[in-house]
Amino acid sequence: MLPSIIAIDGPAASGKSTIGAAIAEKLGYLYFDTGVMYRAVTCVALARAIPIADEAAVTALAEQVQIDFLKPTLNDGRQFTILADGQDITWQIRSREVDAYVSPVSAYAGVRRALTAQQRRIGLRGNVVMVGRDIGTVVLPEADLKIYLDATEEERARRRHRERLARGEQVEYEAVRQEIRRRDEIDSSRAVAPLKQANDAVYLDSTNLSVPEVIARVMQLVTARDC
Ligand code: DC
Repeated sequence: MLPSIIAIDGPAASGKSTIGAAIAEKLGYLYFDTGVMYRAVTCVALARAIPIADEAAVTALAEQVQIDFLKPTLNDGRQFTILADGQDITWQIRSREVDAYVSPVSAYAGVRRALTAQQRRIGLRGNVVMVGRDIGTVVLPEADLKIYLDATEEERARRRHRERLARGEQVEYEAVRQEIRRRDEIDSSRAVAPLKQANDAVYLDSTNLSVPEVIARVMQLVTARDC
């Protein structure tokens, strides 16, 4: 049997989404990107002019807002369609404004409680590749295979910068790098479920590896767990 629950954690822009989606596709598993949920809450809070500093209001929003993941409803390069209370927010959750506010939102204990419960319910059904920051440590500590995917800050900033330019955004490399550094600092130092490698996770540094090479390494780990 192959590992049924696969957790991939790591810092911003370490390639978790690309690798997670590819592995899920190869195995015929559900791919679930938990960062999308924190982004969706942040995006809706901004759209509804809820002050990000208002922890109670942001937490209430996280408890109430209905986030749905659908197969792509438009052929515009999206991996999936994200709805928040029925509204398509697939691209809005990737905006720079959301990037700037998502780490403070995800540091709120009540927000994490609400979203972690949903993530755990979905993960426990199995045949899933779940990616995030705290999947192996908090959301699904019983995962059959845990990977901590890393790369240097420079390489991660390069990747994210390229992605943004390809989307037609005008942005400087240095600004992207600062943003990534700031988010990593908040994500790693928050009191609740900070980003850290689980004791039983396999550490994988993708700095000098191509996407197919990382996929091949992860598939080796998957088949090595076959019992
Ligand atoms: O993976 P991402 O960049 O889309 O995640 C956005 C933010 O959400 C990230 O800065 C921290 C937060 N996050 C989290 O706290 N826990 C997770 N499991 C996933 C994301």
